[in-house]
Amino acid sequence: MSLTLDTTARKAEHAQMFIDGGWTAAGAGGSFPTVDPNTGETIAQVPRGDSADVDKAVAAAKRVAVDWQFTDALGRAALLRALAEKVTENADELARLEALDSGHYLAKAQELVGAIPIWLDYFASIADKVGGRTIEVPGNKLSFTLLEPLGVTAHIIPWNYPLLIMVRSTAPALAFGNTVVVKPAEDTSLSALKFAELVKEAGFPDGVFNVVTGYGAEAGAALAAHPDVAGITFTGSTETGKQISKLAADHVAQVTLELGGKSPTVVYPDADLDEAVEVAVQGFCSHTGQVCVAGTRLFVHADVKDEFLGKLTARLDQTKVGDGFADGTQMGPLVSKKQFDRVNSYIELGKSEATLFYGGGRPAGTPEGGYFVEPTVFTDVDNSSRIAKEEIFGPVASVHPWSTEDELVAAVNDSIYGLFAVLLGKDITTLLSTARRLQVGGVMINDWFGELPMTPHGGHKQSGTGRDEGLEAVHNYTQVKHVAINLDPLRAATDWAGAPL
Ligand code: NAI
Ligand code: MG
Repeated sequence: MSLTLDTTARKAEHAQMFIDGGWTAAGAGGSFPTVDPNTGETIAQVPRGDSADVDKAVAAAKRVAVDWQFTDALGRAALLRALAEKVTENADELARLEALDSGHYLAKAQELVGAIPIWLDYFASIADKVGGRTIEVPGNKLSFTLLEPLGVTAHIIPWNYPLLIMVRSTAPALAFGNTVVVKPAEDTSLSALKFAELVKEAGFPDGVFNVVTGYGAEAGAALAAHPDVAGITFTGSTETGKQISKLAADHVAQVTLELGGKSPTVVYPDADLDEAVEVAVQGFCSHTGQVCVAGTRLFVHADVKDEFLGKLTARLDQTKVGDGFADGTQMGPLVSKKQFDRVNSYIELGKSEATLFYGGGRPAGTPEGGYFVEPTVFTDVDNSSRIAKEEIFGPVASVHPWSTEDELVAAVNDSIYGLFAVLLGKDITTLLSTARRLQVGGVMINDWFGELPMTPHGGHKQSGTGRDEGLEAVHNYTQVKHVAINLDPLRAATDWAGAPL
């Protein structure tokens, strides 16, 4: 049955899993609540899928895998484009669901949903353009590779950008002929279920795309462990990523991981400080700091630190924190009580490890019951303290003054993470020199992170393996087959009689 949303009442109904083209409750009948983080109130009950439900979804995806593999690339691309149109037609409802379930403020959720068709279209466009290669070999032989799909792919999704992160991996998986089982995060399953309706309306064959809702340790672990799953894409915490890798190892599945970060925003002495402050605030306050690439370590050159901090305070004073459906909100709540408690415990820790420079409390006037925190900044932060080392995943930044490039590079690289860096300054030689020396998967110079389907995204070190997006993402959803044909008569090509084996 179709998922329905009542925005005024902030309730949704008929949240059902999507398996083999049909709607279903959990086989064992269980469910769990998903809440509106603006209020803490329940929006809907979501099926608590378990390993038996995962088995059904994987069986469906396996049954149709060969047919889907041999559907023309152009045919697969046409379905992805039809889906893009469905997303555009239903953008308002998708955005409201996403805002309600995840805490993105409505204007941001609309922007994010507006971007989904661009991802679908990009991967539709390259479905028939990326292939194998021919290889020069000795003798009269033709040697070439085919890029073939993996088969059934699993997509375990986090709660921070539920729709976008699901689309960025399922779009290339489908484009290159894989079938899909999605496990959304338990805090934010609703937009995936709505999206599944659109997949069906767009005309995808039953079984090609499935969604199993449920807890990570139940449905998620069962999916990662399933022997018929050939590829797993996961975005989320480094801890869970390691567990998924171990489950995948038991059946030798290919794994793509986009994990945590502790990314630096570097301000050089020649930076435009008004712009630098704007980018820095985007960096640690965007989606209330719940962003893998969040710029939570502010490396500000000692010569400009005081001026930067003055401007930062003025900018943060203007940041409007509140209900995501209220006009003018720039920062909504954290996604859940669990994240709220976690972020607040780091803020308490920061008060003992460093100096609280800004924020640290509950923003004035925010709705009772919602998971709101103030933008928070610490100074006098030792680079080896826990608030400087660990991913907090809230709007919490630490300030680290620096003087020489060597000192800066050493401090930035002294991290288990290596996801992303922002560099803000004018001297291009210095900027590019630092960009080369940082151990990170992406560097943005004089701009804030902008995710695009055509640029590879992922991490070094414990921030991940493999790359989402760009042509690089093709490797996550394909495997190589080498084919060679001898063009000479067999006897003439080789003197088989007496040839050594
Ligand atoms: P998590 O990494 O445990 O959850 C992400 C997804 O993994 C969810 O769908 C969850 O159901 C699933 N999952 C959990 N345990 C699993 C298991 N054993 N096997 C298979 N799937 C499993 O993240 P969580 O606990 O919600 O958040 C904790 C921290 O993780 C955050 O504070 C943040 O530091 C980090 N995180 C990072 C994200 C990123 O974009 N890099 C996104 C979400 C969380
Ligand atoms: Mg929710």
